[in-house]
Amino acid sequence: MDKKFYVTTPIYYVNDKPHIGHAYTTILADVLTRFHKMSNSERKEDRSFFLTGLDEHGQKVQQAAESRGMDPQAHCDDLSPRFINLWEKLEIQYDDFIRTTQPRHKNVVQSILQKVYDKGDIYMAEYEGWYSVSEERFITETEKDSGDFRDVKKLKERNWFFKMGQYQERLIQHIDGHPGFLQPDSRKNEILGFLKQPLSDLCISRPKTRMDWGIELPFDKDYVTYVWFDALINYISGVAYLTDDAKFNKWWPASVHLIGKDILTTHAVYWSTMLFSLELPLPETIFAHGWWLMGESKMSKSLGNVVSPLDLVDEYGVDCVRYYLMREMVLGQDARFTMESFIKRYNSDLANDFGNLLNRVSGLIGKYFNKTIPAVDKNTEAEDRIKSTAEKLNDIVPGLIEKYRLHEAIEEILQVVRGVNKYMEQQAPWKVAKEDLARAGTILYTAGEVLRVCAVHLAPVMPKKCEQMNRILTGDGLLDSDWGGLKPGFQLESHDALFPRLEMPKAQ
Ligand code: ME8
Ligand code: MG
Repeated sequence: MDKKFYVTTPIYYVNDKPHIGHAYTTILADVLTRFHKMSNSERKEDRSFFLTGLDEHGQKVQQAAESRGMDPQAHCDDLSPRFINLWEKLEIQYDDFIRTTQPRHKNVVQSILQKVYDKGDIYMAEYEGWYSVSEERFITETEKDSGDFRDVKKLKERNWFFKMGQYQERLIQHIDGHPGFLQPDSRKNEILGFLKQPLSDLCISRPKTRMDWGIELPFDKDYVTYVWFDALINYISGVAYLTDDAKFNKWWPASVHLIGKDILTTHAVYWSTMLFSLELPLPETIFAHGWWLMGESKMSKSLGNVVSPLDLVDEYGVDCVRYYLMREMVLGQDARFTMESFIKRYNSDLANDFGNLLNRVSGLIGKYFNKTIPAVDKNTEAEDRIKSTAEKLNDIVPGLIEKYRLHEAIEEILQVVRGVNKYMEQQAPWKVAKEDLARAGTILYTAGEVLRVCAVHLAPVMPKKCEQMNRILTGDGLLDSDWGGLKPGFQLESHDALFPRLEMPKAQ
């Protein structure tokens, strides 16, 4: 994983109240970035770039601003801190935060429109069709009949179109030739299925007479840019396309665009063909994860079942929320959010396995070694075995992360933790200490050091707790995962349980 790593999240609609779904994608990007930083052999911070931000144009923003009697820009400025503050609370270490109303973005969008227009890839036409106000786009007859769209109306308008259709064959070839481009495979097949129908051109303008909260077309001042054509460009305006070649060339193409499956087509089809037109390379991967469901249904404002990430964090702490979201969702599939599964997962993995191991090790070192980390006397086969499970994580974890098998990577680490708990049972240092203190020291050193190594590996997921655990065991912040971080002679301090057991909440 020594390559550079450029990861993006969708830019979220500024209007929406951030919920657990937004938090999920952003935490995922953060966790992947931290894994990459950690396993980069040179540990260079400047090998990764993590971009997130906000999507601030379009009809819905304009309407929401109007209903508050506010200027749309003031409305956006007023709402954007909700996301920024949440990311801070969730320990998100992004490198840049882009807003589509920033001049650095608007200028690039206009330059791109001019470029694509000069090339002959944009033309004007009259179009009559079904328009979904809520989705802010023309929909097909089939889509209309599906009944999935609210507020559909017939609309006849002169608009500007991007010649997307001409790139259909090239896109299919690209997908076929780059197996990792659209992930997981089920999503790739979905897009390949979609591309069996003729691909139509894309309407990329909105007449100002209808909606004017957008980026003006450089070649027609009566129109603004369609939100998606505007928003997707953040992935390159955010790394200084057309303004700083060195920076742009350093990061583009992106390693991965993380998105939810709701916005697969815009990314896999609109964005790819826009890049073709610009003669830019495509991102290495577009990874579409599944949905967090509440029981059987999608989490949505209209259903009133949205989980607030802030409430969860306030109640349980940021690390536990990050852990649950990363461990519970199989990347690519849907997952169900329930308080019951949250508490269950916490109690079994964090309270019983991970946290309890720390309590046992530090408790026994307190009791038999006067709180001082003992030295290793002589390793037996049992120590060699448990040590090798810890050392193997150095290969296993990065390998799984590279394949986006995050929940498996976490599970591998937890397996090692469980292995140490078992080793403790078998070796029973509390008994051994009464006859052979040196042997008990070897056991406790080994258990403590494997635990420390596991905490290093889990740090991208739970940065605060894992750092705390390292501090308890070594007096230092996070060290690396190489064997030997635990120093004999170091004096442990008393500490509270890092993961106290939680009671199952009573049914409401
Ligand atoms: O679509 N489960 O923004 P958006 C999992 N502005 N993830 C979820 C989720 C759920 N229940 N709900 C939302 C937009 N998400 C556009 C993007 S990008 C150039 C423009 C996450 O505010 C998921 O990542 O509707 C999804 O793709 C994103 O939020 C949609 O955010
Ligand atoms: Mg949405």
